Amino acid sequence: MSIVIAVDGTAASGKGTLAKKLAAHFGFHYLDSGALYRLVALGVAEAGKDPHNEADAVAAAKALNCARCGDPAIRTAEMGVGASIVSAHPAVRTALLDVQRAYAAKAPGAVIDGRDIGTVICPKATAKLFVDATPEVRAHRRWLELAAKGNPPEEAAVLADIISRDERDKSRAVAPLKPAEDAVLLDTTDLGVEAAFAAALAIVEPRIAAA
Ligand code: DC
Repeated sequence: MSIVIAVDGTAASGKGTLAKKLAAHFGFHYLDSGALYRLVALGVAEAGKDPHNEADAVAAAKALNCARCGDPAIRTAEMGVGASIVSAHPAVRTALLDVQRAYAAKAPGAVIDGRDIGTVICPKATAKLFVDATPEVRAHRRWLELAAKGNPPEEAAVLADIISRDERDKSRAVAPLKPAEDAVLLDTTDLGVEAAFAAALAIVEPRIAAA
């Protein structure tokens, strides 16, 4: 099996930044699985359909074009909420399984961030991190990101979104957001990017060395 680093966690916990840095450090491939669900949400929105409707969301998942993973249109607060809604449909999750597993098989290794990478997509991952921080700190980080793009929503609205997104991601019936039993928890509330990366590396490196 090739090496897989699963980086799961809550919205705006810093898992994406960490996962990218780990991939660059080890020379591994990187997949942001949240981007796949955001693309599904965008597809549904572009088709004028309803993200709560499973058939509409599945149609968008089947038409998914990974080449659009870098599209800034998926990075809005609306697409974050839409992604959380479409991701609760079991058939959407099934439709996105193969693309994620194919990524996990890439040599020499892959870093994948998301919600269910360590629990469902790659239960045998070489190393599993579960990244979290307080909702207030995460809302502030997400607000800074949105502000950098101009015209951000109120920070209180970002916090409300994060809390309801956590709730939906944790309470869905299929692949809910929760740490894998063998995941190591990494709380980034009081950690800057470099300190969080150093902590992640200290967890991951010995596991890769032992693989
Ligand atoms: O990581 P993100 O904020 O881009 O994710 C957007 C939504 O996609 C998230 O609220 C839940 C869903 N998601 C998921 O269900 N499973 C994943 N592996 C990644 C994201």
